[in-house]
Order: sequence, then C-alpha cells, then structure tokens
Amino acid sequence: MLTLGIESSCDETGLALYDTARGLLSHAVHSQVAMHEEYGGVVPELASRDHIRRLIPLLRGVLETAGVVRTDIDAIAYTAGPGLAGALLVGASFAESLALALGIPALPVHHLEGHLLSPLLSSEPPEFPFVALLVSGGHTQLMHVARVGAYELMGESLDDAAGEAFDKTAKLLGLGYPGGPALARLAEDGHPGRFKLPRPMLHSGDLMLSFSGLKTAVLTAARERELTAAERADLAAEFQEAVTEVLAAKAISACRQRRLFTLVVAGGVGANRRLRTRLDEMAARHDIRVFYPELELCTDNGAMIAFCGAQRLLQGEPAKGGGAFAVRPRWPLSEVVG
Ligand code: KG4
Ligand code: ZN
Repeated sequence: MLTLGIESSCDETGLALYDTARGLLSHAVHSQVAMHEEYGGVVPELASRDHIRRLIPLLRGVLETAGVVRTDIDAIAYTAGPGLAGALLVGASFAESLALALGIPALPVHHLEGHLLSPLLSSEPPEFPFVALLVSGGHTQLMHVARVGAYELMGESLDDAAGEAFDKTAKLLGLGYPGGPALARLAEDGHPGRFKLPRPMLHSGDLMLSFSGLKTAVLTAARERELTAAERADLAAEFQEAVTEVLAAKAISACRQRRLFTLVVAGGVGANRRLRTRLDEMAARHDIRVFYPELELCTDNGAMIAFCGAQRLLQGEPAKGGGAFAVRPRWPLSEVVG
C-alpha cells in the first residue's frame, strides 16, 4: 500500500511516499526559514501562501524520485493539527481534493503522533511498549506508548515547550530564527558553570516540567551588564545544560516508573546533540536503550505523516473518500485513540 504523506502545519512543507512493503520511497521538505527570518519568527499568512506554492512541485519531486505515478498512490495522509490554522488548511484541502480526484481515502493525522512514531522509520526500530519523550517547538511531553494509537500522557511542560524555550532564549541572546539550532551552535563555544541557572522541577518528584523561568533567568543575567561574546556562549551553554539535564532526568524517571527499557525521542529538540549525549549516558546506567529518528526526520517532515497514516490504515481505521473535512489547530494528542 502506497501512502502519500503531507505535512504543512507550520513553516515546513513536507511530502513523502511510504510503501508498507518497501518502506520509505522518497521524501522532500521545503523549509520556509529564509522567508520568515527577517521577521524573527513565523508569519502565518506568509506560511500558508508558501505552502500553496510548494505543494505541487514537491509532489512531482517525490513521485519522480520514487519512480511512481499519481495513480499508484493508494491513500493520502495529511497533518490535520495541531498547528497554524491557515497552513493546516492548505495541506488538508490539497490532500482531500487529490484524494477525491484519485478516488482514494484521505486520512487526517495528528502531527505529534507523526513525531512519536517517526523513530519506527529507522533501520533498527524500537519495539512496543516504550516511553516517548516528545520535544518540539510547541510541545514537551512524556508519553507511554503501548502500540500505535495507545498513548498515555505521563508528564508535560506546565508552560513553555523545550523548543520554545530554546527559541525565546536565542532571541534574548540576539540570535536569529529559528533559535534552537543557533543556540546549540553558540553553546558549543561556551562553558557551562560560569553562569548558574536553575534546573526547574528537577526534584519535583513527578514528571512535570517547566521552562519559562529559565528564559527569565537568562534575561536577568543578560541585562545585568553588556556580555562579551565569550560570556554569551557560556550563558548559552549553561542554558542548554539546564534544559537537557532536566529533560534527560525526567525521561529516565518515566522509563523507571513503568519498568520499561526502551525510550524514544522525537521532535525538533531531539536533534540537539547535548540532549542525545546526556540521554545516552543516563540511559546506559539503567540499561535503557534510546532510539532517535534519523536526524532529517527529527524536525517536521512528510515521511512521519505518511508512515503514521499507513499504520492507522493497516489497523483498519476507516478513512474517508475525500469531501468534507476540518483541521484542528489545537488538538490534544490524548484525544487520538486507535
Ligand atoms: O518538531 P519541530 O520541527 O516542529 C514543531 O512541531 O514544533 O521542532 C522545532 C523546534 C524549534 O523550537 C527548534 O528551535 C527546535 O525544535 N530545535 C532545536 C534543535 N533543532 C531544532 N532545539 C535545540 N537544539 C537543536 N539542535
Ligand atoms: Zn513538529
């Protein structure tokens, strides 16, 4: 079964073709980073318009790379939420109308479920059940995953998501958008410890997290006086140290609580090298194996949407034949069951 996946929830247009027998045949992403850069963040209207421009050329590209034609597609999965309403609507209307024209099913997919299942696309996939640490720009959650469609929220951030904290802190330090990768690069030149930042909720005794206080602490340190380039790097390093320490500790606690030895990391912040090193170190001490998606599948992409849609169809989820549809800009993952 050949599934086309379409992702357009934010500032990346991602398309992919996943075949249940042959695996991922092709995937292509167009990032809008250069377009939004001068505004210091994503401009929703510009994002929607750019998705419209990119969808057809990207579709042609993934078909050509996979060596298939449009009529070979058996189903279309698209991100229906959460995300920017206009951006979601572009992908949804494109997917639903193409499905209607081809007479094949269209399947709305939850963006975070896509992230959650993305490590299953790697050559050595994890086995169920596992704990998933979902760390994206909008969400920071610890989930218990029993199988496709069985997700239980174990803990989450009470305020900013980890990616959001990276982005906002990067802005405070005068770095461009998107802030996460830029801050991580700056942190490589610095030494943690010169500045002392808190480790929020590290000893809270539960799996809840909080990152907005860290951003304020960085703001306070940066406002005290003009920082030198070396000090900015040190502050970035300490910030990264604080976020990754708490994330790693809580993720390992979640595994230990459930006596599970498989941890899956998904979402854009999962690309952070320091987070990976810390998780690997801590996990090794508890015989826990950590699985990451391929680096290019950590951030938003169509492959995870195609894969997620295919898994749901395999499970027998009824898919519509194209027609009426809706997107859900605020869609809690807890409402996704299968
Ligand atoms: O999953 P994602 O691509 O989009 C959402 O669904 O939100 O995650 C994007 C987030 C952004 O906040 C970005 O700054 C962060 O992931 N990010 C990183 C790194 N790469 C991306 N944060 C820290 N270190 C990185 N290397
Ligand atoms: Zn995402």
